[in-house]
Amino acid sequence: MMREADIERIEIDLLLEGIRRRWGYDFTHYSHASLKRRLEHARNETGLTHFTELLDRLLHDQRCFDGFLKHMSITVTEMFRDPPFYQAVREKVVPLLKTFPFVKIWHAGCATGQEVYSMAMLLHEENFLDRARIYATDFNKHSLDMAQKGVYPAKDMEAYAANYRAGGGKRDFSDYYSAGYDWAKLKDFLKEHVTFSYHNLVTDGVFGEMNLICCRNVLIYFDKTLQDRVLALFADSLRHGGFLCLGAKETLNFSGVKHQFEPLEGRQKIYRKCGVMHV
Ligand SMILES: C[S@@+](CC[C@H](N)C(=O)[O-])C[C@H]1O[C@@H](n2cnc3c(N)ncnc32)[C@H](O)[C@@H]1O
Repeated sequence: MMREADIERIEIDLLLEGIRRRWGYDFTHYSHASLKRRLEHARNETGLTHFTELLDRLLHDQRCFDGFLKHMSITVTEMFRDPPFYQAVREKVVPLLKTFPFVKIWHAGCATGQEVYSMAMLLHEENFLDRARIYATDFNKHSLDMAQKGVYPAKDMEAYAANYRAGGGKRDFSDYYSAGYDWAKLKDFLKEHVTFSYHNLVTDGVFGEMNLICCRNVLIYFDKTLQDRVLALFADSLRHGGFLCLGAKETLNFSGVKHQFEPLEGRQKIYRKCGVMHV
């Protein structure tokens, strides 16, 4: 006799296939344990018992699908997350980028934008922001809207300021925002060099000729097959000598593109694509 868990696995497979064919979002290679937890949340929130019932709703109801997507994207982030990473970018990466008249930077999976504005602040302090164009992408349109606004809860500023200082920040963090009672609005100049746009790492293509790609704390949600595919996408999107930055728990050591890269700052997961970088 088939176990309940096996039946549920069939249901999940059908659910993912239905979503892929109906809406074009492909979650089949997301890592199973965390995917299942998120699917359970989505199902429980709609008050349904079986994933097949959820599939029925998702196939026919756009609003239900929009709500469902929020469950499928974990957008936890912060300014200057992992401060030693920013220190390493400042000390090791920026001096090399400065040999170029102009650079292109891609933040893939930027969530609500804190990572992007952290980079903009860092480049500003290194007198390099005017020579950069930053592309910030995510597949969560709601997060992208928030990123574009650059308005964050005032209560988070203290922790962000501590990260900023630990990451080598050179000013007073409060120089970068105007504070209201509940909200802090980042200064507009920080987004002048940023383009926010929709991009799905699973289904969309190369984002060309980048000098630096930051994709931090995104690959952990993918299985190895998908991680390998996305890392190949990054290798193809980078110029020779360009930099790839991953999250603390992520690596490219297992992947097919491993030999195209050398570690620049191994502990901070900063890699450099081999080959000569032409200006
Ligand atoms: C935990 S956040 C990481 C945010 C930021 N990079 C950081 O490290 O703080 C993961 C982000 O990856 C995005 N994401 C997940 N799957 C994606 C996909 N297939 N394409 C684009 N973005 C994706 C989610 O929407 C979410 O905003």
